[in-house]
Amino acid sequence: MSTVPFPTSQLNSSDNIRKPVTLSDLHEMRNQSKPIVMVTAYDYPSAKVVEAAGVDIVLVGDSAAMTVLVYPTTTPVSLDAMIMISISVRRGLNSPLLIGALPFGTYEASNTEAIHTAQRFVKEAGCDAVKLEGGGQSLARAQAIIDTGIPVMGHIGLTPQTATALGGFRAQGRTADRAGELLYQALAAQAAGCFAVVFEAIPAAVCELLMEHMEIPVIGIGAGPSTDGQVLVYHDLLDMLPGHTPKFVEQFAHLHAEMVKGVSAYAASVRASEFPGAAHAYSIPKDELERLQAKFTQTGLPRKQKLASV
Ligand code: KIV
Repeated sequence: MSTVPFPTSQLNSSDNIRKPVTLSDLHEMRNQSKPIVMVTAYDYPSAKVVEAAGVDIVLVGDSAAMTVLVYPTTTPVSLDAMIMISISVRRGLNSPLLIGALPFGTYEASNTEAIHTAQRFVKEAGCDAVKLEGGGQSLARAQAIIDTGIPVMGHIGLTPQTATALGGFRAQGRTADRAGELLYQALAAQAAGCFAVVFEAIPAAVCELLMEHMEIPVIGIGAGPSTDGQVLVYHDLLDMLPGHTPKFVEQFAHLHAEMVKGVSAYAASVRASEFPGAAHAYSIPKDELERLQAKFTQTGLPRKQKLASV
């Protein structure tokens, strides 16, 4: 069992406190055709940003493996790392529903393993729900977790944990047969009791057909406009990492360039001996400074002598 203390949300008095988003709120939004906004977060600062932006759902995605741990895929991230990241996110959140993504190799082997992993996200990190990838056996795991009282979000289409078996990071459901399989998986996730499901990298026209059969909120990523909500990876939508950007991403800000500009300005200011200025310095009372000067003079030490020997 972890020694990490149970986290509480660290709110400032200036924070705009909204009512926590519930599962029934999400169903209500779906029924009223109000788009659901979901985004990933991986630490306290990003959680504070998405909280302030008023999103509905925050996912601690195993995409953390790629965005913050810089692995080439999502599979290497450990459960302990995901729990630690989730604790940090929990501390910055109040209102959005918080979902933890079960990492590869921590839920597939048995229902017992899946339940234990899901319970760690709830017990140690304060997550409200968990997400797991895939159809078939994964949905038996989903059902077992749901039976213990933990809500589960499904995830079909491009499932990054098993991308190799799917032919790589590419759109899914581009043949009638494969699209039919996706419908079967979506319906199975719904029947298993998932409160919502992610559709990833599925042609927009296929999604539209699938949506006709869905009764739970569907959150899309690279799945076109017909889903009940959208999710993007925090680092992608804010353009925080230079390099490849998936086709389905829109960059709504360019933070990497802004941050490089900020740190470059700091470096230039230090190098020009402009920073720190008087405004950044601590003071000492005048009489204390004079006593110190006298003390140093009394020692008769030559200047530049090491302070430790005074
Ligand atoms: O891990 C993740 O970030 C995800 C989202 C992209 C849906 O699965």
